[in-house]
Amino acid sequence: MDIIHFVADLRARLQREPNNVFVPTMGNLHEGHIQLIDIAKPRAACTVVSIFVNRLQFGPQEDFDRYPRTFEADCKRLRDAGVNVVFAPDEKEIYPEPQTFLVEPSDLQHILDGAARPGHFRGVATVVLKLFNMVSPHSAIFGKKDYQQYIVLRDMVRQFALPIEIIPAETVRAPDGLALSSRNGYLSAEERIEAPRLYRTLREAQAEIMAGACDFQRIELHGMSQLADNGWRPDYVTVRRQADLQKPAPGDRELVVLAAARLGKTRLIDNVEVNLEP
Ligand code: PAF
Repeated sequence: MDIIHFVADLRARLQREPNNVFVPTMGNLHEGHIQLIDIAKPRAACTVVSIFVNRLQFGPQEDFDRYPRTFEADCKRLRDAGVNVVFAPDEKEIYPEPQTFLVEPSDLQHILDGAARPGHFRGVATVVLKLFNMVSPHSAIFGKKDYQQYIVLRDMVRQFALPIEIIPAETVRAPDGLALSSRNGYLSAEERIEAPRLYRTLREAQAEIMAGACDFQRIELHGMSQLADNGWRPDYVTVRRQADLQKPAPGDRELVVLAAARLGKTRLIDNVEVNLEP
């Protein structure tokens, strides 16, 4: 496995390997990332993983400084997972000058997580476009746990006609249902016991919709109050269309229930898809 820190070296290395598949990460890798790599590996001769904590996607009050950086352990995991190339640039390599050209996602960037984290999706889209230009993969894998991120990046690739296939991967969960996330490490022991409630709340909403309920507002309010009653500060529990994350119209059958809520100091997000029979 080659560990590369500079774009010029990356390009030289990948010239020999034009058939590559890409998994962008911010490091602090867990089983969820390993699943992305397992999906990537059979798709190309060369699997490239980037590790870069992207300041641009963090708000001024967010956890950029304390975001866990575990480079040595990450490299060991990646080597064991059979990754070919790790691209681990420092900030100067990605942003050698202030980034004044930015990728502005559609209005999608202002709803849900975008409303709670202004500028977040602009930062994500900008760094991912730069990384795509550096790696030139034929496909890239993104976890569906960050559902809105996946939709934003899928739309970016389509609208800029990038020759890259975006492949979504299912969320990996702990045995009690909690979606794996680097931010789970911020939870206290007590909060970790409470945390799976987020997924249970989503599953209940999913079951109700599958059983025919269509008063989504009631389902959303019920989910929000279930969380609030148990000490969470919910940003949203909401039923949306999978295609564009807008509110469903009558007859829409491919839905997703998304939630974001704070437990103590930790903000967790999760979602479940609901595919109704035609
Ligand atoms: O999902 C993440 O880890 C990040 O948002 C990404 C896609 C690596 C961009 O920094």
